Amino acid sequence: MENENENAMDRRQKLYSDTLLDHFRNPRNYGSLPSPDTAYEEFNPLCGDRVRIELKISDNRIAAARFVGDGCAICIAAASLLTELVLGVEIAPGALISDEDLLASLKSDIKPSRMKCALLPLYALRSCVKIYKQPQTSR
Ligand code: FES
Repeated sequence: MENENENAMDRRQKLYSDTLLDHFRNPRNYGSLPSPDTAYEEFNPLCGDRVRIELKISDNRIAAARFVGDGCAICIAAASLLTELVLGVEIAPGALISDEDLLASLKSDIKPSRMKCALLPLYALRSCVKIYKQPQTSR
């Protein structure tokens, strides 16, 4: 019985790395920005979970990122990691983090059925950037 418990624990640890568990238990950048330059909420139709990403943009780069939402451990950890990874990143097409890089940063065995959980925050971030209106410079 003890062996079974240890095996179950080993399996869980492979599915959920220490990095993933740490970001789930202690999410970074959780909350709202006082006046975000852009924000977008994504919804996972498979489970009903939601993640909202808010960004502050300065000189065409992400100066601050926050998130709020309800989601599973994978989703919350991915949102937390994402808000750290995109700081200072230019908001140009192709400059944002790729699906593969975000998945790799979770260091976990994300099954195809849970891909949407992991990528939901990134989809919200991409929509934030897409709807962001550059401030008009006065002449
Ligand atoms: Fe809902 Fe993962 S189960 S986001």
